[in-house]
Amino acid sequence: MQPLIVGNWKMFKTVREAELFARRLVAELEIPPDREVVIAPAFPALYTVSAVLRGSAIKLAAQNVHDQVQGAFTGEVSAGMLIDAGCEYVIIGHSERRAFFRETDDLISRKLSAALAQGLRPIFCIGETLAEREQGATLTVIAGQIKEGLKNIDRGDIGNLAVAYEPVWAIGTGKTATPEQAQEVHAFIRNTMESVYGKELAGKLRIIYGGSVNSGNIGKLMSEKDINGALVGGASLDIESFSAIVKYKEV
Ligand code: PGA
Repeated sequence: MQPLIVGNWKMFKTVREAELFARRLVAELEIPPDREVVIAPAFPALYTVSAVLRGSAIKLAAQNVHDQVQGAFTGEVSAGMLIDAGCEYVIIGHSERRAFFRETDDLISRKLSAALAQGLRPIFCIGETLAEREQGATLTVIAGQIKEGLKNIDRGDIGNLAVAYEPVWAIGTGKTATPEQAQEVHAFIRNTMESVYGKELAGKLRIIYGGSVNSGNIGKLMSEKDINGALVGGASLDIESFSAIVKYKEV
């Protein structure tokens, strides 16, 4: 399975800054041939960055999408518009969207359907809060997010999906889940997917980890059997740390 490394730039970098950073990535990033690298700038920079990435091995993602094809939805962006701007992927259901913008499992499920129907590949984010983990509810929460999020997804579309496990307590906090903690949840996600979609599809599903991934912890995380990549926030904004993550060696 090809590891997937995604840089989520969140609400950082102007168009000009994103363009310059993308140029540096194209020129300097050494991507081992077995890996897929994706960057997710903010909406205004997507089109400009897509022009910079053309002909390179780096792919483009958006950080959000609306669930309708078009219409009177002020402030929103459709999957078709994202494809037109050069995106191949879209991050859906990030915990910041769930927490700050009240995105529900139901809305996330509609966004996943819309993205897949229009030809975007979703990176579907799930994860428990600290309170849920402390209550011992992690796996129940994860199972619920998968069931609700994927309730309208055809099995034929599962091949275009990646799942990102991001424990909310590990995002931007410097607290990474231990490789063992992450592996436990990743294995649970694969088993849950297997029970619905069968062994073959679940076996090919990329389940990536996110939450304070950096150049020091990536190698150990990636040596776990069910961790197939990383969703990187803070450490993707800096060329040295992102390069080191992309070139990780399993330890
Ligand atoms: P972080 O963010 O790497 O800064 O913790 C990860 C994410 O939110 O995707």
